[in-house]
Amino acid sequence: MRRPYIAGNWKMNPSYREAKNLVSGLLDRCAGDLAADVGVFPPFPFLYSVVRLLADSPVVVGAQNLHWEREGAYTGEVSAHMLVDLGCTAVIVGHSERRTFFGETNQQVNNKVRAALEAGLGVILCVGEKLEEREKGLTSAVVCDQLERGLDDLGPDQLKRVTIAYEPVWAIGTGRVATPDQAQEVHAAIRSLAAERYGDASDLRILYGGSVKPENAAGLLSMPDIDGALVGGASLDLSSFTRIVDAALQRARQ
Ligand code: PGA
Repeated sequence: MRRPYIAGNWKMNPSYREAKNLVSGLLDRCAGDLAADVGVFPPFPFLYSVVRLLADSPVVVGAQNLHWEREGAYTGEVSAHMLVDLGCTAVIVGHSERRTFFGETNQQVNNKVRAALEAGLGVILCVGEKLEEREKGLTSAVVCDQLERGLDDLGPDQLKRVTIAYEPVWAIGTGRVATPDQAQEVHAAIRSLAAERYGDASDLRILYGGSVKPENAAGLLSMPDIDGALVGGASLDLSSFTRIVDAALQRARQ
């Protein structure tokens, strides 16, 4: 049985003060042995503080992006080793907002995944189709292509530290969530592609992301291949986020 994983992607939010409040709430709610993994992915400037505030908790702290080079003249960029130095243990790679707004290519995504894994970080690799691609029946082709290229050159041992997040672009920040069946269909396709490539993908965790809220989390998490959620907007509200975590704990008990 795969351990559920709820990850909060804060994006370019919130204020530092709000971030500290959110973290102190999480500290109360996520103490001790949890039956699910919980992670937060704050903006770069907050990472140092958030890592320290959550040091005695099981909550994973990760970054939202990285550069694949170790160091050098790359103004504005942050390397995997810098993140490790700070105490981060994970990073999100290939989020659709980075692909869309910053022109991130599958090759760059793959460079980032490899650099993160080499530095010892866990990776959440995001894939997902745009609305027009879904309407043309291209969902599976697009997602599988992003997956193949994102994971290029990785062996089965490296895959163990990779979590996939299926995030249909049309569902991100829109309030228009994929139905559990729509998401399950793509999650099953992702797992079978990974099984084909690596022989076995029964341990691979595949999160769903895109307008996950407390109201729809349990339905999504009840599907056999949905192992958790990458939560944007709702991760900024302590009560919403912890209710989503509760849904994961509930699923872990079943
Ligand atoms: P959302 O974002 O939950 O606000 O839709 C999810 C994501 O982009 O990771």
